[in-house]
Amino acid sequence: MDLIAWLAGAAESVERWQAEYPPFEPHQSLLIDDERFAAAFAEFADRMRGNYPYFHPYYAGQMLKPPHPVAVAAYVAAMLVNPNNHALDGGKVTSQMEKEVVADLAAMFGFGTHLGHLTSSGTIANLEALYVARELHPGLGVAYSADAHYTHPRMCRLLGVEGTAVGADAAGRMDLGALDELLAGGSIGTVVATAGTTGLGAIDPVHEVLAIARRRGVRVHVDAAYGGFFTLLAGAEGRCGLDPLPWRAIADCDSVVVDPHKHGLQPYGCGAVLFADPGVGRFYAHDSPYTYFTSDELHLGEISLECSRAGAAAAALWLTFRLLPPEPGGLGKVLAACRRAALDWADLLATSDRLHLYQPPELDIVSYFPATAGTSLAAIDAASAKMLDEGMRDTEYPVFVSTLTVEADSFTWRHPGVVANRDRARILRSVLMKPESEHHVAALHARLEKLAELAESG
Ligand SMILES: Cc1ncc(COP(=O)(O)O)c(C=O)c1O
Repeated sequence: MDLIAWLAGAAESVERWQAEYPPFEPHQSLLIDDERFAAAFAEFADRMRGNYPYFHPYYAGQMLKPPHPVAVAAYVAAMLVNPNNHALDGGKVTSQMEKEVVADLAAMFGFGTHLGHLTSSGTIANLEALYVARELHPGLGVAYSADAHYTHPRMCRLLGVEGTAVGADAAGRMDLGALDELLAGGSIGTVVATAGTTGLGAIDPVHEVLAIARRRGVRVHVDAAYGGFFTLLAGAEGRCGLDPLPWRAIADCDSVVVDPHKHGLQPYGCGAVLFADPGVGRFYAHDSPYTYFTSDELHLGEISLECSRAGAAAAALWLTFRLLPPEPGGLGKVLAACRRAALDWADLLATSDRLHLYQPPELDIVSYFPATAGTSLAAIDAASAKMLDEGMRDTEYPVFVSTLTVEADSFTWRHPGVVANRDRARILRSVLMKPESEHHVAALHARLEKLAELAESG
């Protein structure tokens, strides 16, 4: 795809539409001459060069990558119109697109009925799910795994709901025995299961969480902000296939969050929350004297806590789904490549003298630590930090990874030979969320082995 040509095409399509209306002169106050613009743009472009190269396969750090060119072209074309999906008054076309992509997401998770919308982030999407949780079970708390995203305890505080962390097991999944014990106390109204934890990509056993919760009349919300699209690999043949049980169980849960701005190829500003019971729309009921007047149909602001939201985000996802639908043969192929990359790297780590696998990857997050550093947490922590730093600073062959701080207990549980001479330690973590990674894993591995060797030599 020639992105530059498509960007021009996007702008031209909007100009053609605008030309259907009577012409007018732009206001003098908005005019910028080209020379001044060129100078300011050059400064801007220079500042932007300071970014880490998220687009490149040598960037194997956080959950970051550029959006797909299809999403960019649609986003630009829609942004030039600048619809607001709060109400049909502001986002007539893109609100309809949003309803269609939300229905696609609901179908991907197997929801029979649904009520949902896009949000500006996974954080806001989870906030909405926990808000509905509070309204349905006033006075009762929310439980989540100790490895769940930090947003859950934070949002519980914000909502005035008691949040309780349930311990994670040696694979980073919610401890079911501890959950059962907690729910027996009767103080919990909703459990959050994470399908793909942010740190390690672990999948809480949603099916078992659901069974335990339902026995006690407790609701289940699934935070699949990062992992949600991996449901496309559930039960797939071959080494990329995932155990279908946790993924299929999402269909019977009460709500789910997924972030198209993570694995859905979208630019930032695109999360989603879906509820199985459309009746929860009542908790959003409000009146607005300034909006909701152009149509009696559902305005998305009527079922959302946010007011203004970019219609462009819905447009970008809509066009992306037209070409790479959320199906095994569409977006699923992208996810499969990411997963293959993680499995290939795990194989290399398993036989390396210089690096050790922290735990086998369940999705596309690989966790590892320098073996050369010695066997104490302090040495591993220092060497990990050094490798992160040295990797980024190399001008010839830079490599970008991230660190993950793990508790001493979690570490020694997985690696009993390590001396716990501090409470926590940084290990290395790579999210291989670009499908191209599968062709660069061997080179990345070799580079990190070299960095581990350098870290050892001081
Ligand atoms: C599991 C999980 N939940 C929630 C979030 C927060 O999402 P956002 O960064 O879109 O606000 C993240 C972000 O990484 C996540 O991985």
